[in-house]
Amino acid sequence: MRLHVADHPLIAHKLSVLRDQSTDSARFRQLTEELVMLLAYEATRSVAVEDKEISTPVTTFTGTRLAAPRPVVVPILRAGLGMLDGMLRILPTAEVGFLGMVRNEETFEPSAYADRLPDDLSGRQIFVVDPMLATGGTLAMAVDFLLARGARDVTAVCLVSAPEGVERIEKDYAESANVEIYTAALDEKLNDKGYIVPGLGDAGDRMYG
Ligand code: PRP
Repeated sequence: MRLHVADHPLIAHKLSVLRDQSTDSARFRQLTEELVMLLAYEATRSVAVEDKEISTPVTTFTGTRLAAPRPVVVPILRAGLGMLDGMLRILPTAEVGFLGMVRNEETFEPSAYADRLPDDLSGRQIFVVDPMLATGGTLAMAVDFLLARGARDVTAVCLVSAPEGVERIEKDYAESANVEIYTAALDEKLNDKGYIVPGLGDAGDRMYG
């Protein structure tokens, strides 16, 4: 498992506005989209490409295009939905699969209430988008769904991650899959309510509440 923590002043600036409790839902959604686009630029660094012969107005040229099969973007509902448009602006030809999951706020155990993934994910590059990686239970369950459909390469794009969640993913998928995490920030810890500290609160509520 590889962890990539963004190191860019624009990301730090936008994320600070996002964290601020006075930022309203409309601005929160807009900033989320902007942050995803900045993160996606790095997170797609290893996307598969192939040569393509093209003709410019001047000459012929060996260019580049995304290789088949198309990548798959998987938002984890609800909050991940707010990251989908930004991801699709960078990867407009991607297929989209949906997972609906919610964490029990007492046990912190996730449960899945929707699964609209493509049946066969063999050989596909998967980009899971979810703003929060807290205990890691939700992402682990999502990765298990993806592996069960034949996926091997899973890249998670998150805004704020806790060390506890990153460690869990590292431990669970050390050998069974190629999992990478791109996060705008690695925060300090989880509190006893399972919230990321300093965090940004409940991303789903702040986007859609
Ligand atoms: C939040 C967040 C992640 C999950 C992270 O979703 O968007 O999906 O919690 O927690 P974990 O790492 O401890 O599993 P939530 O369950 O609040 O659902 P929502 O997106 O519908 O608000």
